[in-house]
Amino acid sequence: MTVAAASVAGGGGCRHLAIIMDGNGRWAQGRRLPRIAGHREGVQAVRRVVEAAPGLGLDVLTLYAFSSENWKRPADEVSDLMGLLRHYVQHELDTLHRNGVRLDFIGDWQALKPDLVRLLETARDKTRANTGLRLVMALNYGGQGEIVRAAKALAAEAVAGTLSPDDITSEMLEARLDTAKVCGGLPLPDAVLRTSGELRLSNFLLWQAAYAEFLVTDTLWPDFDGAALAAALDDFSRRERRFGGR
Ligand code: IPE
Ligand code: IPE
Ligand code: MG
Repeated sequence: MTVAAASVAGGGGCRHLAIIMDGNGRWAQGRRLPRIAGHREGVQAVRRVVEAAPGLGLDVLTLYAFSSENWKRPADEVSDLMGLLRHYVQHELDTLHRNGVRLDFIGDWQALKPDLVRLLETARDKTRANTGLRLVMALNYGGQGEIVRAAKALAAEAVAGTLSPDDITSEMLEARLDTAKVCGGLPLPDAVLRTSGELRLSNFLLWQAAYAEFLVTDTLWPDFDGAALAAALDDFSRRERRFGGR
């Protein structure tokens, strides 16, 4: 299917796509370049995908940019990644705002460096009233940590006496996840896409992906573009979703 045809199909009903942007290191390695070159090209892929997403029918794009496990990487790579994040937000904010994009973040991003946190808050606040694509970046994000924070919130309410533990439902836990609190509350992801051929979730949206379609492509993230996004959404549109029914 062409990009134009996919846009007519409106992404085959995919409203919320979550992407595990993987393969930057291998892209660089294949070119005998330092890993940061792959991360830099990865930022270009983010630009392309954010631009193409609304025309393909997506309302929400959640991008896994830095996991709570990525701190295990060498300090210079972590610092390169934080620098690129800062650069992306500083340089893209006006364009995103002009295009009606609403930007927000999930994960323990408030624990990042204070100046970066301030920049992210500024970006979130500036774009808060925008009604176009909701762009959610997962930063210092881990699905298990997010569920633990939601469980702690419920526990605190139980201790305060505002709810009884016996009354806790999955809806109540879900309402306390980061994804329920950003951009006016996100719908669950319809699909999770991982680039570079790896077949694992790596602690991404563990709760929310319960019934998401899993899409994989061998394309390395720095090579990803609007056409690759359209192809992934075409794959999604052919899936039969059952949610346990028949
Ligand atoms: C994804 O690319 C970027 C982040 C995880 C931040 P990688 O750096 O994981 O690339 P590979 O997996 O080593 O190729
Ligand atoms: C997942 O990729 C995290 C992000 C894309 C930010 P990783 O490259 O860190 O995942 P693993 O280590 O291969 O599972
Ligand atoms: Mg990787």
